[in-house]
Amino acid sequence: MKVQVVIAFVTMVLASPLLAQQGDASRGERDFRVCAPCHSLEPDRNMTGPSLAGLWGRKAGSLPSFERYSDALKSSGIIWDDRSLDGWLTDPERMVPDNEMPFNGIKDARERGDLLAFLKEATKPGAAPQQNAQAQTGGMGGMGGMMRGGNDTNLKNLEPARQVKAITYCHDSYRVTTANGKTRHFWERNLRFMTDSSRDGPQSGVPAIMPAGMLGDRAAVIFAAPEEITKMIEQSC
Ligand code: HEC
Repeated sequence: MKVQVVIAFVTMVLASPLLAQQGDASRGERDFRVCAPCHSLEPDRNMTGPSLAGLWGRKAGSLPSFERYSDALKSSGIIWDDRSLDGWLTDPERMVPDNEMPFNGIKDARERGDLLAFLKEATKPGAAPQQNAQAQTGGMGGMGGMMRGGNDTNLKNLEPARQVKAITYCHDSYRVTTANGKTRHFWERNLRFMTDSSRDGPQSGVPAIMPAGMLGDRAAVIFAAPEEITKMIEQSC
């Protein structure tokens, strides 16, 4: 009995690095849904986490365009390959204590194998454009929009209901007027102010308002630059 358990364990350990080759990439593409809100596959398109384009063979924490790496990841000395990625995805905190990826890991070895099989292809140089074409036409089983996390909607040329014309502040409330002439009230703790300076960010002077949260009482106003925030908010009751 004991011997069987040991054999099963050894088989699992030995098999896991191989799973990247053996995994099912189309199942892995679906598994990537949990990563997609934070990671893009397009070169240098960084979100909460760094772009994963060109990941295999890259030194951990070394993408020059990503400015938010933890010291822990930068000094880990890891080179990303089948084996190190399998360890990272099993339990990031155990592999690199104090890293800043808010993710608990995937305990299922088959799921990691599938995900790595997908990532290995999708992160190869030149693989990304096809990926996106697929995502935009809904080729990823209709998950395209959701997979892209809503983080990278282009905020230029939004419909008038999403273009902010004026914001006033009174006591504990904001009033937000949009380009379609409508005004909405928000309790001050329910409105968030953000910036997006990337090419997908709003036009300067035309912040975007986007719904946030599940209840419909919250929203985020996204500006092109931080200095626009106080300039736009007028104290008036
Ligand atoms: C909530 C956001 C979030 C989720 C979800 C997430 N990550 Fe991350 N990821 C990050 C952040 C932030 C970092 C940088 C961590 C650091 O510097 O310590 C990171 C780092 C990484 C790195 C190292 C990249 C490099 O350049 O060294 C890899 C690989 C990675 N993530 C893969 C994944 C995969 C695969 C998934 C899905 C199973 C995933 N991540 C889920 C935010 C996330």
